[in-house]
Amino acid sequence: MSGDSHAAGNDDSGAGGKRPPRGRMTVPKFAGLKAAGRKISMLTAYDYPFAALLDEAGVDGILVGDSMSMVVQGHATTLPVTLDEIIYHAEMVGRAVKHALVVVDMPFPYGNLGPYQVIEAAGRILKETRCQAVKLEGGAAQADIIAALVAAGIPVMAHVGLRPQSVHQLGGYKMQRDEAALLADAKAAEDAGAFAMVLECVPASLAEKITKQLAIPTIGIGAGPGCDGQVLVTHDLLGLTTGYVPRFAKAYADLKTTITDAVGRYCADVANGKFPGVEQTME
Ligand code: KIV
Repeated sequence: MSGDSHAAGNDDSGAGGKRPPRGRMTVPKFAGLKAAGRKISMLTAYDYPFAALLDEAGVDGILVGDSMSMVVQGHATTLPVTLDEIIYHAEMVGRAVKHALVVVDMPFPYGNLGPYQVIEAAGRILKETRCQAVKLEGGAAQADIIAALVAAGIPVMAHVGLRPQSVHQLGGYKMQRDEAALLADAKAAEDAGAFAMVLECVPASLAEKITKQLAIPTIGIGAGPGCDGQVLVTHDLLGLTTGYVPRFAKAYADLKTTITDAVGRYCADVANGKFPGVEQTME
């Protein structure tokens, strides 16, 4: 994709019957969508072309998730992703996005190190990637870390419920049902200064209860319709996931079939001498 075609793809003028101009989503605007009663859409991206397409399509927030460990790198859990790797991917996303809020996952185990190390790591993310906030798994036990990041001017999206970085401690990717603990985690993260919160794999009725008790928006994944917004792994949404797809995900396209079909036709054309054709041939 050339720089020119990218600029055209992100035309902000609203001219020629296009969508009205869309400014940049900021942390306060994002947090304010709850009070405005507007549902929030969020998706993951790990590279420039996907980030540019999601941004052009109008998503409110883009998460450079540590799900890239599974989705992009082929690992079994989110644990292997390093700080340098997530920064490398967040840089590509940060370069592409003109409108959406871009949030970057703090990789394991940064959210549990001392405040100085966490601020240093999150500071690198903001300095090197053009992204605007970090996401950190945890609630009550991470409240001090969240408060330290916020005091350092680093916006934090908390992540409560199923915390994939704690998969071994939790014994698998399971629904989280301990109401008292989840309410306490959510309140602690909000009190510590988080501007929003992912709620993952929480029963819908409990997610709705948490959402009603918080002033900050909840962004659900496997947490039902009562949250203030929703987030999905983009590869699940597009039917691109090669492995397990969770029940809460909805595929809006079947790009796996589209891609394998296109590649199969290309291979056949090469084998039959039909590609390159006249149009693709230069003297
Ligand atoms: O890493 C990720 O993609 C996430 C979302 C699933 C919320 O944390």
